[in-house]
Amino acid sequence: MTVVAFPFKSEEASVVAANLLTATHNRAVDEVWAVAAQEGDAMARVAAVASEISAAEAKPVLVFSQERIGSYRAGKGDGMNTAIGRAAEAGVDRLHFYDADITNFGASWIDGAERAADRGFGVVRHRFPRPATDAMITWMVTRPGLAMLFRGSLLPRLGQPLGGEILLTSPAIEAIASDPSVRARSDWGIDTILTHAMTTQGLDMYEHLVPDGKRHALYGSLDELRTMMTECLDAVASLGGKQGPSPDSRFHSDPAAPVPNDLKSIDAYDVSATVGLLGESWSQAEVDLAKSLPGQVAPQILENLSGPNFEFMDEEMWGLTLGHLLANFRLGDATWESLAFRLWVTRVLAYTTSAADLGYDAAMEYLESTIRQYQTVGDHHVQP
Ligand code: DGY
Repeated sequence: MTVVAFPFKSEEASVVAANLLTATHNRAVDEVWAVAAQEGDAMARVAAVASEISAAEAKPVLVFSQERIGSYRAGKGDGMNTAIGRAAEAGVDRLHFYDADITNFGASWIDGAERAADRGFGVVRHRFPRPATDAMITWMVTRPGLAMLFRGSLLPRLGQPLGGEILLTSPAIEAIASDPSVRARSDWGIDTILTHAMTTQGLDMYEHLVPDGKRHALYGSLDELRTMMTECLDAVASLGGKQGPSPDSRFHSDPAAPVPNDLKSIDAYDVSATVGLLGESWSQAEVDLAKSLPGQVAPQILENLSGPNFEFMDEEMWGLTLGHLLANFRLGDATWESLAFRLWVTRVLAYTTSAADLGYDAAMEYLESTIRQYQTVGDHHVQP
């Protein structure tokens, strides 16, 4: 049995409905699941639409709420783990996951993943172009973190380590359903932990390219990503010292394809609203913590007490900063969370107003070069 699952919370109901319909309509799919973050109006609206789609397509479209499984904040991880647990119990052969907010979701996502699974790949990940200033946690936290911790492995090479668009075949479902570190990760850290788990089980992995890109609602100020940023930072930091990908697994990634022109000119977030975050709400504890940052990072970040200062955070400074964060950051500690978020904001603004200003292609080349650079500096920066 093949299932497509969409974890959802409060995404635009019409977008969720369109995605449920696309999945239900697909001939490869036997059942569609919508996993609600909580019971309430959003769930009731999706349930109403799901029963119409189910009747029209003569296929089960189940809407259920996520269980409390993990030990972090109850979030997307509980949603994914609820579906994975249910799939393992039901003996599902293939479980696809897609984010519910994709506005250009189409049959080709499901078909591309199915084709790779038919060729014997145990896990399939979707990869897709995103605007040059989107994916800023991926580019500034997760991929550099994986580069520092697992240099030379396939982990830093994966295009979307935070992508919630994956296909697990039954051996992967079984292995992951019983992996305690995946089960524990109930928050935004789930994608990172799943990505790592998927590479360590000896399963062949395929990265399927969706050339049109993933289109979704964009952001106002980067404040909207505060919780996600700190949880993803904690997740990648938690992988320090863990075993890397199995060397004998097969890995295939689709070759690059031309990126749509309209995607190249999208501004993913509001720069001026974000600059304001740099000087906002410093506590004395955060000032003191900032003083322990390495090298010139400490005096430079503290300049923000008297006015915005972010240009200093180039790739070198960020390597130093991220290494320090990977070794010392504490999720749940308000001072650490505020400082880590502020440091990330300086990095994103510095990149946005330098490399990203040179145009999409130059920006992508620059970002990829930083990932290569972080692999070579790995151990120097991540101090225990
Ligand atoms: C990322 O960085 O990939 C997150 O989805 C936020 O855009």
